[in-house]
Amino acid sequence: MSVLVEPVIQTVKLSKVYRSGFRMKRVRALVDLDLEIEKGETFGFLGPNGAGKTTLIKILMGLASPSSGQARIFGRPPRDARVKSRIGFLPESPYFYEYLTAMEFLRLSAQLSGVPGQEAEARVRRLLKLVRMEDAANVQMRGFSRGMLQRIGVAQALVNDPELVILDEPMGGLDPIGRKEFRDIIAKLRKQGKTVFFSTHILSDVEMICDRVGIVIAGRLVNTGRLTEILTEKAESIEVTVTGVTGKFRKVLERVAQQSIRSGDSLLLTVRGDDEVERVMAIVREAKAKVSAIVPRRKTLEDYFMARVREAGRN
Ligand SMILES: Nc1ncnc2c1ncn2[C@@H]1O[C@H](COP(=O)(O)OP(=O)(O)O)[C@@H](O)[C@H]1O
Ligand SMILES: [Mg+2]
Repeated sequence: MSVLVEPVIQTVKLSKVYRSGFRMKRVRALVDLDLEIEKGETFGFLGPNGAGKTTLIKILMGLASPSSGQARIFGRPPRDARVKSRIGFLPESPYFYEYLTAMEFLRLSAQLSGVPGQEAEARVRRLLKLVRMEDAANVQMRGFSRGMLQRIGVAQALVNDPELVILDEPMGGLDPIGRKEFRDIIAKLRKQGKTVFFSTHILSDVEMICDRVGIVIAGRLVNTGRLTEILTEKAESIEVTVTGVTGKFRKVLERVAQQSIRSGDSLLLTVRGDDEVERVMAIVREAKAKVSAIVPRRKTLEDYFMARVREAGRN
């Protein structure tokens, strides 16, 4: 056995060009994508709509072929039968046969992926518990909310006890509570040592649960890294809360700040740097008002992401 640990997912100069419409217009959905995902990583593939996320996932699942370059899963081509049994997959808009109960559907999925009968029964129960759907196990899925369907979708993706789980926009259409529950499920998978690859455009969710993210814009991977590395740039702005300012002093402060929000006799000012903070302090002293808080605003992934999207728009 080799001591070298093979990446779970690897793409080398992977490109995909679609030709669509009457004029066969070329759409470059992926451009020279180089990516490596290690065993046990939780990786968030982040990008706006149309960035190429589903295209990559389709190639990884062997549903689409690259135009050039290559993809490897566990060191093999995605269409290799030995790869399939080690992957679990949740597509972007899954459709479930809604007259089946959750239990029946998962049993069927287990049978289709060749899980032996007795083992299947135990596994289906464990999965229903994992996604917190035990109470709805015997309810027909046509009554399920979007969040419940997504949870059953994840259970389905895990039914063959895969080493790698690929989820396409698993949190799409979920409310904040549903997304929180989903993050918890992904955290559990991570604890079990599974490699998780999921796509999303919801930044905050990625920020909380991923070991690493890749940012894809217009088919190009513009950055990959640990979030702490991507977000090391120093504070972009400082928020100063001032209370007890009125009249002309308030107007002056509002002019100094990039942004100001008024609430009663409080002002929340967003300023650019230390010099502006000093100016605000001087004005506040003169007005005999009070500064109640100064908070550096860390650059969030959202700020970073929006800046990259703007850059790509300019190119
Ligand atoms: N089958 C297809 N035929 C033609 N164009 C496609 C096809 N699938 C996707 N595209 C185009 O490729 C680009 C990337 O799409 P997609 O991978 O679905 O992005 P995402 O999942 O990030 O929203 C988009 O411009 C989309 O319109
Ligand atoms: Mg998509």
